[in-house]
Amino acid sequence: MIRDGAVLLCSGLISAVGTRQEIEALPEALSAEKLDVGGRVVLPGFVDSHTHLIHAASRVEEYELKIAGASYEEIARKGGGILNSVKKLRAATAEALKKRAHGALREFAAHGTTTLEAKSGYGLDVASELKILRLHKELNAEQPLELVSTFLGAHVVPAEYRRKHAGAERYVALLTETLIPEVAKEGLAEFCDVFCDRGAFSRGDSRKILEMGRQHSLAPRLHAEQLTRTGATQLAVQLGAASCDHLEQVSKTDIRALAKSNTVATLLPGCDFHLGLRHYAPARALIEAGAIVGLATDYNPGTSPTVSMPMILSLACTQLRMTPAEAIAAVTINAAYSLRRNPQIGSLEAGKQADLAVFDVNDYREIPYYFGLNTCWMTLKKGRAVFQKAHA
Ligand code: NIG
Ligand code: FE
Repeated sequence: MIRDGAVLLCSGLISAVGTRQEIEALPEALSAEKLDVGGRVVLPGFVDSHTHLIHAASRVEEYELKIAGASYEEIARKGGGILNSVKKLRAATAEALKKRAHGALREFAAHGTTTLEAKSGYGLDVASELKILRLHKELNAEQPLELVSTFLGAHVVPAEYRRKHAGAERYVALLTETLIPEVAKEGLAEFCDVFCDRGAFSRGDSRKILEMGRQHSLAPRLHAEQLTRTGATQLAVQLGAASCDHLEQVSKTDIRALAKSNTVATLLPGCDFHLGLRHYAPARALIEAGAIVGLATDYNPGTSPTVSMPMILSLACTQLRMTPAEAIAAVTINAAYSLRRNPQIGSLEAGKQADLAVFDVNDYREIPYYFGLNTCWMTLKKGRAVFQKAHA
């Protein structure tokens, strides 16, 4: 932490970080335009390493069922859940999906996020999955935040395959033989993800899909141990996955495996909060074992309809018992590492991108402390303001 600090920016990059005195003494600082943030707290822009950005609509029709006690899996069995969002996405136009995503991205920026991962996974057929991934590309060109694209064709088995004989097997074949090669050929994703859980994909199928992804230069990441313990964490570590996400149900051996690996344990407390679950991932045990812990919003219509990283920080502190400093590291440098972007983003260091978020607080710990309140005052992406709080 630097008190009375300053950052010198040049051509979208950070050229120096230090105390105001040190920075003002630099010869390059003489001609620099000065932006006085009035003693507010400046952080690296947040890196949201797990979002399902592209979806057609909310699933508010399931909200009261959840409140009344129906479980995530019960709702899915009744035709709700991910397949509900798949129906809506297939019926939506690319224009409508893009408009919704643009709106969400403005909100992400307003909460201090400057880079986010975005997963496909509500299309689940060739045309719809490619439509989503192409939208990631278009959105990257049309607005200032950076999107890192992940192929999640293996979200669940779509309805039309469930009716077929050996449907799951045939859907896995569609992913490995058709979709993954096509996604790679068009350069539409950097990562391949699988939802490995009861009601989604088995560990064996997850391995097949992720290995095929890896053969096509899509680095693996996994939805693991969310609803049940499947052993997906061990698989993630064996495959050298960039990240292993959720982890509510991890075992002691899983924690040890993560601690010995470079796979980031990405925790998503927004899911447990929204689903009204009391059992959160064991963040303290992971940190104490030496695992790399990240945090993300998991922005999606089924389990975590939020874009607010400040809210995730509050949940991390009160529910996961992480310190504010640990939580901030988890949504900046550790998240950047999980997206293989740590040389460019995730910290305020000379040579990195000038991605900054400014908060209207006196002490960084007040960011999680004021829960449900967005204290973000200004967000800069590559040195340009992409959000500024309106003056009252
Ligand atoms: O990360 N767990 C799987 N995927 C999402 C939920 C998707 C949905 O319910 O629409 C998640 O929680
Ligand atoms: Fe997810």
